[in-house]
Amino acid sequence: MNKSIDKLMSEHRLIEQVLGSLATFLQKLGTNPDLPRQHLAQFAGFFRNFADRCQHGKEEDRLFVKMNDCGFPREFGPISVMLSEHSAGRYHVRALAEIGAGQGPLTTWEITQAGEHGDEFITLLLGHIQKEDHILYPMAQQAIPAHEFDQLDAACETFEREEIGASEIAKWTALADELNTIYPPDTDRIRAGAACTGCHGHH
Ligand SMILES: [Fe+2]
Repeated sequence: MNKSIDKLMSEHRLIEQVLGSLATFLQKLGTNPDLPRQHLAQFAGFFRNFADRCQHGKEEDRLFVKMNDCGFPREFGPISVMLSEHSAGRYHVRALAEIGAGQGPLTTWEITQAGEHGDEFITLLLGHIQKEDHILYPMAQQAIPAHEFDQLDAACETFEREEIGASEIAKWTALADELNTIYPPDTDRIRAGAACTGCHGHH
């Protein structure tokens, strides 16, 4: 497997774990409304920076551009679906971040809002990850010639170094570990998300 695809897929595994932690956090919030608001801000920070700025950034600015060069349109078809899912995800993360940035204990209304946005986001992103792992990335590997893939691998590394930086990536990865420890990931939820129709042939 190509280095850049391999990296994107291992990032998916970490993102899935944090989605599972968020599911646990939201469940606990149902019985314990006193959970720290700050944790919601931390989940939003991880998804905004690691999942979106870093992971989706590499896809949108590098991988999808290369696929576009190889004949995949951006305005319709699989790339446009992936782009619209990224932007739908941003909307939910914005809502979580805004609630997380508030003051004092979470209100009942905020808990309901966090639950709705969080839940939709978890379902959306788990399904999105499956589509990329099982449909989009294999398509990219078929369509992009080997020597161009070497360039893409280098371009993804440059993107990470210049747009994010190793220390920031380390920071968000450490935060993911912390959240996974405080809120052990709901593995059933992760597995249910992985059972997307249309991906069955690949399992
Ligand atoms: Fe994506």
